[in-house]
Amino acid sequence: MCGIVGYIGNKEKKNLIISGLKELEYRGYDSSGLAVMDKNSKDINHFKAVGKLSNLEEKTKNFNSYGFGVAIGHTRWATHGKPTEINAHPHIGKYSFVTHNGIIENYKEIKQILEKKGVKFISQTDTEVIVHLFENFYEDTKDVFKAFEATISNLVGSFAILLITKKAPDKIFFAKNSVPLIVAKSSSGEIIFSSSDAPIIGLADDGVYLDDMTYGVASFNEINFFQNAKTINPAIKNLPKDKNYAQKEGFRFFMEKEIYEQSTIITETLMGRVKENEIYFEELDDDVFKNIDEIIMCACGTSYHAALAASYLFERISKIRAKVEIASEFRYKNSFLNKNSLFIVISQSGETADTLEALKIAKNAGLKTLAICNVDNSSIVRLAKNVILTRAGIEKGVASTKAFATQVLTLWMVVLKLAKYKKVISNNELENEIKALLNIPKAVSIKDGLQDKIYRISKHYLYGHGFFFIGRDIFYPLALEGALKLKEISYLHAEGYASGEMKHGPIALVDERLFTIALLPKTTLYDKTKSNVEEIVARDGFVLAISPDEFDLADDFIKISTHDHPMCEFFEMMVILQIFALEISIRLGNDVDMPRNLAKSVTVE
Ligand code: F6R
Repeated sequence: MCGIVGYIGNKEKKNLIISGLKELEYRGYDSSGLAVMDKNSKDINHFKAVGKLSNLEEKTKNFNSYGFGVAIGHTRWATHGKPTEINAHPHIGKYSFVTHNGIIENYKEIKQILEKKGVKFISQTDTEVIVHLFENFYEDTKDVFKAFEATISNLVGSFAILLITKKAPDKIFFAKNSVPLIVAKSSSGEIIFSSSDAPIIGLADDGVYLDDMTYGVASFNEINFFQNAKTINPAIKNLPKDKNYAQKEGFRFFMEKEIYEQSTIITETLMGRVKENEIYFEELDDDVFKNIDEIIMCACGTSYHAALAASYLFERISKIRAKVEIASEFRYKNSFLNKNSLFIVISQSGETADTLEALKIAKNAGLKTLAICNVDNSSIVRLAKNVILTRAGIEKGVASTKAFATQVLTLWMVVLKLAKYKKVISNNELENEIKALLNIPKAVSIKDGLQDKIYRISKHYLYGHGFFFIGRDIFYPLALEGALKLKEISYLHAEGYASGEMKHGPIALVDERLFTIALLPKTTLYDKTKSNVEEIVARDGFVLAISPDEFDLADDFIKISTHDHPMCEFFEMMVILQIFALEISIRLGNDVDMPRNLAKSVTVE
């Protein structure tokens, strides 16, 4: 996701901002920019570039900013509008500049009001409203801080904001809600802002990790913090000393960090898309569903599992035929394609060769196409007629975790949107679904003691002769995904199976060294799955049961919370399976983030 850096002091600011942004590259971005203000002349120089930071370096190579001043910089991961220079930050008013991470949910409403007052917008972003709203309030109040305070109180959504203005040339105004922002003061009084601690290491020893709805103003050697118009004194914490450790935000592996950040990421995926009991995709025209009588989903690997899970939801909730195709199979199948099908491709990277080719086939056959993708401007995004971005941020661990979570969540929202469009869901049912959707950030947040418990039981699973992950209904694709996660990073043989299929062959493998990971949700076919597990226990198989209900026959048991919606159980179990794979891999001494033989983006057939 986006990265943000700010500085007040005497150091050469351009280099400091760019090297800070480089520390944030791991978050992913597709454009960047910076603005530097000289306190005395009040001149603000700004630069923007699409692509890598080296492009911004090239653009700024003849610019230096010695002497006292303030500066802000940004790396942008596109959410509203393409990755272009105009959409890159900082966004510009008449005399102020702003950088922002997050999403302003009510930007359209604000934009309409400002446009009526004659404000001209040049970008497609949500961020641009911030700078114009600020200047609008300043024109009314002639008080810079009051104008900033009023701006923040009018924003709905998630934000880390840095704003500079010629009306207060030695200050940076800041605000934070739901996305991270840290501010630190060096021993000589310089002020440094950043979205994570890596850019601050070496400049300051400690800093403030801002709490939600905190805002304020910083000048040299001074930072004033506010919440609800009252001054606060937030706690100062020591910053880590090791930059690599800081990029992983204290976790041992990127995969581990990505598992833990799922709750925040899912909140981002939902942001602005669930309003007043309705699903909104501002990027999607309702026309996409017109005359559609079938859904075909096509993907590879983990993304294929997300599609498989969604196929149950499409049929059950949207009352539409839903097929799922493995992209490498679909390519050469000469499928009989019906023009009334909506062809959905799912891809984290947007570059997977087989999925891209499948999309071309569907497009050439005249089908409507929709890409559910994590990377804007990727090949798949550029080719598909309609696109929904999953907003998972860059995924560094080769084994996909948070991308899968956001794919399933996004597809579930598409299911609800289609159900509503087709008028096959009652208001009551939709309300229940939305309640469950909004509960997912909680369902994926990792409870105290969970990782420790999984670490302890993981030692039972190092030396068997294989794993079966089993489940029914949507828990069958989850079983497939659990098995894939484990085999990718542990190199142990694992298979996912529909529970009811075990007795049709695989049960022959069961003995005391065959591990079964049984997904036993209470909401979905509990008794049926339980009898399948009992059949395995009867043959002396070693069973780990994951369920809200105690299961005495299991050798190991992980309890999940009781939920009244299957998707809440699905997401809570998903996290357990991810941590299970992680802990086994760590015990085996494998490279969790870069497992052997695997690449993050599979751009060849
Ligand atoms: C597994 C994994 C892969 C990808 C697959 C498709 O953890 O990451 O199975 O899901 O290679 O990649 P994308 O989603 O980028 O098309």
